[in-house]
Amino acid sequence: MSSSVTAPRRVLSGMRPTGTLHLGNYHGALKNWTELQYEYDCYFFVADYHALTTGYDDTSSIEGNTWQMVVDWLAAGLNPAVATLFIQSKVPEHAELHLLLSMITPLGWLERVPTYKDQQEQLKEKDLATYGFLGYPLLQSADILLYRPMYVPVGEDQVAHVEITREIARRFNFIYGREPDFEAKAERAVKNLGSKNAALYRELRRAYQEKGEAESLDRAHALLEANSRLTLADRERLLGYLEGTGRSILPEPEVLLTATPKVTGLDGRKMSKSYGNTIGLREDPDAVAAKLKTMQTDPARVRRTDPGDPEKCPVWDLHKLYSSEDTLKWVDQGCRSAGIGCLECKKPLIERVVDEISGMRQRAQEYEDNPDLVRGIIAEGCEKAREVASQTLDDVKQAIGLSYR
Ligand code: TRP
Ligand code: SF4
Repeated sequence: MSSSVTAPRRVLSGMRPTGTLHLGNYHGALKNWTELQYEYDCYFFVADYHALTTGYDDTSSIEGNTWQMVVDWLAAGLNPAVATLFIQSKVPEHAELHLLLSMITPLGWLERVPTYKDQQEQLKEKDLATYGFLGYPLLQSADILLYRPMYVPVGEDQVAHVEITREIARRFNFIYGREPDFEAKAERAVKNLGSKNAALYRELRRAYQEKGEAESLDRAHALLEANSRLTLADRERLLGYLEGTGRSILPEPEVLLTATPKVTGLDGRKMSKSYGNTIGLREDPDAVAAKLKTMQTDPARVRRTDPGDPEKCPVWDLHKLYSSEDTLKWVDQGCRSAGIGCLECKKPLIERVVDEISGMRQRAQEYEDNPDLVRGIIAEGCEKAREVASQTLDDVKQAIGLSYR
């Protein structure tokens, strides 16, 4: 534990293996991931255990779906040279941390997570009265905390899960971060920052503890992050010392809310596999063009000569996602004045979508032709993930008192 580690600005997120992805998944999450990978040290994984929590009785498609989804990730531009891609169940530390965290998790916290009751009501045909399903958010907490990420990019629907993750981390640090000589060790760590940074740290800590200035806390975090001489243990102490807890063994991650554009499906409802209104990421371009040609438009526009209202047209939602300002203007004016027909209006959209999909198909082909390439990428990712995960787990076990040295 004496290794000097610079805290990388790490990002972690996961997806359940739903099989091939559609444009809703792409614009809702995946595209964001492909941008984040060049800014942060990114870990992205397939949450195959999570698939079991809602479907233990039919596991036949999990493996196939996992590989399909990984190919989609690669096709969409996730770059294994910069991002770490892996499969949850291949990194057993997830299960182990989940178990350890389960010991300190009050049942009420899990029962109160909104998705627990919601899903039970919505998915009546499934047996969700299991221990595993109740533990869904805790497994997700373990997924996250294992990598000590700064950010977790997710959509609105997952915010509650990151929130409980933060609560679990706080509780863990509170219970197990209290070394008997914590204050003395923290003070020694402050001195090790060097006189200038030590003074700044003390000032920021006072400002935070006395006046509750969140900005001081942020600045102190930045100060610690920038200091490369700090050992991991001392960094944890100084983080905890700031906030008045013990060592921050499991730092609290923050949500990086994906500004999810509304991706409308072919029938005007939200694009979703369960509605059967999707356009697949790697669908045949001719089929995609055909789907878009018959896509629903403003119902009031019955004849070509009837003016329409883009706000009432699902095609307009897609235009907003794909088209330039100029095209949008052309659509808006042409539609309202009946200057253009719906097929004419869809033409530039179809071009853009087909273009996007063709690029992904092309990239996917290489991986489909060469499954070993995909296996190799994942094997390497799993190995890298395990290095980080086992380091955290060692720390966690040591803090609990299970290191047996
Ligand atoms: N629950 C997430 C979803 O349904 C998937 C997930 C599992 C996840 N573990 C995670 C997302 C950890 C972010 C971080 O989309
Ligand atoms: Fe929709 Fe375009 Fe037809 Fe207007 S012209 S109703 S925006 S498809």
